[in-house]
Amino acid sequence: MYGSGSTPAPRPRSAADIRAQKGGSPIVSLTAYTTPMARLLDPVCDFVLVGDSVGMVLHGLPSTLGVTMEMMILHGQAVARGLTSALMVVDMPFASYEESPEQAYRNAARLMAETGAGAVKLEGGRHMAATIQFLTTRGIPVMAHVGLTPQGVNGFGGYKVQGRGAQAGVIMADAQAVAEAGAFAVVLEKVPAGLADDITAALDIPTIGIGASVGCDGQVLVVDDMLGLFTEFQPKFVRRFGNLGEEAAQAVAAYAEAVRSRAFPGPEHVFADTVPGASA
Ligand code: KIV
Repeated sequence: MYGSGSTPAPRPRSAADIRAQKGGSPIVSLTAYTTPMARLLDPVCDFVLVGDSVGMVLHGLPSTLGVTMEMMILHGQAVARGLTSALMVVDMPFASYEESPEQAYRNAARLMAETGAGAVKLEGGRHMAATIQFLTTRGIPVMAHVGLTPQGVNGFGGYKVQGRGAQAGVIMADAQAVAEAGAFAVVLEKVPAGLADDITAALDIPTIGIGASVGCDGQVLVVDDMLGLFTEFQPKFVRRFGNLGEEAAQAVAAYAEAVRSRAFPGPEHVFADTVPGASA
């Protein structure tokens, strides 16, 4: 029962908690797509993003456009099993929300109900403001995403920096529109650092940078990028904090060598015909 008992149960962070971190200690976030990775990130992240980058990182798709609701639900459920304290945010996949606020509501509600996510993220600025307002006024916390929005890669003609020169005002207007519409935070992807700082100063919700500025209220990266596990693209904004891809390649090569030379399995890895000491 709510409010009873002397020891409060551990409570996962909410969108409101993340919103309250505006201007405070930097918000830490990474993506996760599986239970073991979620377990690893839970103690250090304020929120964990089940990003639609899963399509490229785990499924080998050429872009995020082929990611489906079913994929997001499956990976959201896996991540939820590994989280106890971080907020889980699930990305709305391409074509699941752009058509109308009603379509967005149906799919966002399904994502939250079937995964247990505390919030959804969707891409787009001024043109998504009405949808963000529709969702947030109906109990669905929304993280917005402006600047380079990867689902729009075909319109941008590549994964290019957004908001240089005269375009800066457009990205600023996008960020202001999503904040006014009720988003609890906004991801700024691949925008010039000065513009990211101006947006961070102008908004009363946290900005989460990815290829933006150290002055943002928080940072997010694709976990496989920063661990050196996904190396097909090397965006300038990724810092490699590990080289797990190289370590994995060495480990599988050592395994293959051990199998071919019959050094594996060793006596300690196999089972005796009888259990020592057991009567026959
Ligand atoms: O899909 C994703 O991983 C994202 C990024 C912001 C990390 O949207």
